[in-house]
Amino acid sequence: MIDSPYQPLDGEQPSMPWLWLGTWSMGGEGFGFCDARESQKLLESAVEKGVRHFDTAGFYAHGKSEQLLANVMRQQRRQLFIASKGGLIWQGRNVHHRASAAALRDELQRSLERLRTDYLDLYQLHWPDPNVALEESLEALQLLQQEGLIRYWGVCNLSADQLRTHIPVGAYIPHQVHHNPIHRNDEVLQVGIQHKRCFNCCYSPLEQGLLADGVGARGLNSLGKRDVRRSNSYFCSERVRAWLGEYREIIEASPIDSVTAALLWSVTAADVQAVVVGPKKLHQLEQMLAHVQWVNCAEGQLSIKTELTVADAGRWWQCLESGADRSVS
Ligand SMILES: NC(=O)c1ccc[n+]([C@@H]2O[C@H](COP(=O)([O-])OP(=O)(O)OC[C@H]3O[C@@H](n4cnc5c(N)ncnc54)[C@H](OP(=O)(O)O)[C@@H]3O)[C@@H](O)[C@H]2O)c1
Repeated sequence: MIDSPYQPLDGEQPSMPWLWLGTWSMGGEGFGFCDARESQKLLESAVEKGVRHFDTAGFYAHGKSEQLLANVMRQQRRQLFIASKGGLIWQGRNVHHRASAAALRDELQRSLERLRTDYLDLYQLHWPDPNVALEESLEALQLLQQEGLIRYWGVCNLSADQLRTHIPVGAYIPHQVHHNPIHRNDEVLQVGIQHKRCFNCCYSPLEQGLLADGVGARGLNSLGKRDVRRSNSYFCSERVRAWLGEYREIIEASPIDSVTAALLWSVTAADVQAVVVGPKKLHQLEQMLAHVQWVNCAEGQLSIKTELTVADAGRWWQCLESGADRSVS
C-alpha cells in the first residue's frame, strides 16, 4: 500500500489511501447550483463506499464546507482523516492572505468549532502569505501540533525553491500541489518527493471540471456570474478549448470516460501519492469511484491495470500527456 503515515486514528487501513475527497465545490458557493441535501448524501455515500480522507478549508463557501463535514463526522470521528487549511480569509467579496501565527491559531479554532471536533488530523497552510515570513507560518503550525490541536501539519502551493529552503529532508510533510494534464507542476512534485521532503497530494485533477463532463466542461459560457471558475484562465483559452475538442473525440472512442481518464493520469503521474478530487453531485462521486477498479496499489506505487492500457493502445494517455504543452492564450 501507499507508504503514508497520514491515516485515521482508528480502524483498518483504508482501501483507497490515495483518494482524498475535496469539499470546496459541494459547499454551495462559487460553482453554480448545488443542493445542500445532495452534498450531505454525497459525503455519507463516500464514507459508506470506503473513502476515509476528506479535505476542506475555512475559506471554502465561507465555512459551509466544514459544516457539512461535521454532520458525517459525528458518528465516526476517529475512523476519518480530516484535513483543513488556514491562511486565506474572506473580506466581503475579496479573499486575503492571513497566515501570521495569531491568524492561523484563530482560524484553526473557528475550523474546530465548525467541524465540532477537538482535533484535526491535518492542518495545512493554504497559501504562503506574501506579508508574513514563511518560517512564522510553519512554526505556528508546529506549535499547534505540539499543543495537540492537530495531529499533523502540512502545506499547499509552495514553489520548488520554498520547498528546498523550508522543508527539511526526510520531513515527509503533506503538500497539496495543483497538477493535472493542463496544469503541470512536475518540478515541485519532484523536489517534494526527493529525499522524502513531502507527501505529494495533487489537487484539481479535473481542472475544476474542464476535464470532466459536467457544467464546467461546457466552458466559460455555461458559468454563472459568480462562478469562481470565471477567473480560471484555462476556461478562456482558445488553445485549451481546441485541445479539449481532440481529447473528447479520443475519449468517445475509448472504453473509459473523461473523468476516469483524467483521474487515472493524475493518480499514476510520477511522484504523486494522493489525489484530492471535488465532486459536487452524487452521480459524480459514483463516476469518480469507477476509476478505482483500474488502479493497482502495490509496494508503494500506483499504476494502471494493464488490461486497460493494452485494450486502448494508450491514445487517450498520449493526448493527456500532450495537454501539458497547451499554454494559455
Ligand atoms: N490547496 C489548495 O490550494 C486547493 C485548491 C483547489 C482545490 N483544492 C482541493 O482539491 C479539491 C478538488 O479540486 P477542485 O474542486 O478545484 O477541482 P476538480 O476536482 O478538478 O473538479 C471538480 C469539479 O469537476 C466537475 N465534475 C464533473 N464530473 C465530475 C466527477 N465525476 N467527479 C468529480 N468532479 C466532477 C464538477 O463541476 P461541474 O459539475 O460544475 O462541472 C466539480 O465541481 C477541492 O475540493 C479542495 O479540497 C485545494
